[in-house]
Amino acid sequence: MCGIVGYVGKQQAAPIILDGLSKLEYRGYDSAGMAVFDGKYIQIQKSVGRLKVLEELTHDGRTMPGVLGIGHTRWATHGAPSDVNSHPHYNEEETIAVVHNGIIENYIPLKNKLLKKGYTFLSETDTEVVAHLLDYYYKGNPLEAITKVLHRVEGSYALGILFADHPDTLYAVRKDSPLIVGKSDEGCFIASDVPAILKYTRNVYYVENQEVACMTADSLHFYSVDEEELEKEAVTIEWDASAAEKGGYEHFMLKEMHEQSKTVTDTMSPRIKDGKIVIEELGLTDEEICNMSRIYMVACGSAYHAAMTGKYVMEGIARIPVEVDLASEFRYRDPILDDNSLVIVVSQSGETADTLAALREAQKRGCRVLGIVNVVGSSIAREADNVMYTWAGPEIAVATTKAYSAQLIALYLLSLKFADVRGKITKEELTDYMEDLKRLPQQIELLMNNKERIQRFANRYIAAKDIFFIGRGIDYAISLEASLKLKEISYIHSEAYAAGELKHGTISLIEDGTLVAAVSTQPALYKKTLSNIVEVKSRGAFVLAVTTVGNTEIEKAADYVIYIPETNPFFTDSLAIIPLQLFAYYVSVGKGCDVDKPRNLAKSVTVE
Ligand code: M6R
Repeated sequence: MCGIVGYVGKQQAAPIILDGLSKLEYRGYDSAGMAVFDGKYIQIQKSVGRLKVLEELTHDGRTMPGVLGIGHTRWATHGAPSDVNSHPHYNEEETIAVVHNGIIENYIPLKNKLLKKGYTFLSETDTEVVAHLLDYYYKGNPLEAITKVLHRVEGSYALGILFADHPDTLYAVRKDSPLIVGKSDEGCFIASDVPAILKYTRNVYYVENQEVACMTADSLHFYSVDEEELEKEAVTIEWDASAAEKGGYEHFMLKEMHEQSKTVTDTMSPRIKDGKIVIEELGLTDEEICNMSRIYMVACGSAYHAAMTGKYVMEGIARIPVEVDLASEFRYRDPILDDNSLVIVVSQSGETADTLAALREAQKRGCRVLGIVNVVGSSIAREADNVMYTWAGPEIAVATTKAYSAQLIALYLLSLKFADVRGKITKEELTDYMEDLKRLPQQIELLMNNKERIQRFANRYIAAKDIFFIGRGIDYAISLEASLKLKEISYIHSEAYAAGELKHGTISLIEDGTLVAAVSTQPALYKKTLSNIVEVKSRGAFVLAVTTVGNTEIEKAADYVIYIPETNPFFTDSLAIIPLQLFAYYVSVGKGCDVDKPRNLAKSVTVE
């Protein structure tokens, strides 16, 4: 979704803003723009297209001198991608400029009122309403105008604002869209995400809903919506800027796939102590764990797929009933929750609008919410009753890989913890499970080392029209994730099916040469999936099988086999997904797609 960067300080603002926006490109966008106060006026340059168009337009920022500015990458929601709809937006006198991430839900009634008062609109965006509304309320005091606007607008927003009358001050505010503030000796910064400003400062303030930040080159103040000054503590960002760079890899996605074994270790090892699973941040007593009647796992996209695997593992090991819901469905389906239910929301970004809304819905109904989140200090991390972080570090590629792998580990650990506390597994069984977990990082590395073989296979399928993934149980959950990975970055139509469901309709789509990837890692279901492989083969499919080492019988039925190392059947997702991520990656590379920034997609989906 949209990216915001702003700066006020001793340096030229435009190059800092362009550099910061380049670090937010991963969020997905279709146009970019910048406003800089040049000592007399607020200058705006904006254009549809990639950031490099804006860089060319402004000669890398040199044609926009000034030490105060805001910039924006837009992911269109209201109004098509176009120069005029790009941000920043002005008031009519061009004395107030605004960039916005989010959606002003009541922009139509507000626009109608402003039209009646004589305001004219240039764009189709909801954001322009904010610029005119600020103008309407502005009587010389920006803070007063901003807080008045906050009382009128509904929806989600992160806003960066300039007032020509206050040429030394940058203003920012947020509600339900991400925004951070940074401070260094060189000035103050705002951004949608940490990587945008990490080069300049590690001192970061997480802005809470409806807090207003007022910044100059050497001062920073926060105010409530009632204009009362607030005390806020800076957080020091520990991770290095290089964690958000490509580090010699061709794409972030490849780099992040290679980081998976580390991610798995980092998420797991602090929580395995003295032969026990220790999740200090859980905030649940043993009694509460024992009384738990049901778990709801709620998420979107790949995080939802991780939760699907989580359901099989939690039910299989801890014997607690689990319902898995898409967050966009959960929030509106009037779920039946009781005091003994636990809601687990899973999210890499911690900013996904539907997941955040599902969290709030669950809390409204008196339910305790545990967040499994990657981005420290994100909205979900702050609002959940308890947070279990996945220590995957910054994930830049739109297609998630390492965060997904870390989410699986968090869910395995939770399942083992609950099973142990509820007496569903013996001490010896727990030890065996933990030994299997500890072997995963090495096994993942082994699979990554075989990437050339997957690349050769993937090269044959760059012209494919349809690809199917099938599996049963956990293998079905793996299939869903593999299929999403492929379609989102290669634009090849792909579907995942529970293997037993094929003959109820989908099998009619199988033609001569159609690639069917069959995942078969579950010993109890191996024979069943084998039959499904035979069924699709006899209708002309070319079958790629992903199975556990030793299952050589599958070679008689499948055309191409990828073996994964042996692990506990509950943990096979962590291994089987690796070659399938690589397959998606190499198909995308082979087709010449924009691997890290696939069309129409955003890394962090902060609108509904
Ligand atoms: O940040 P979140 O984990 O909440 O994001 C959820 C989905 O938007 C995300 O997993 C999406 O499906 C990825 N692009 C998949 O690779």
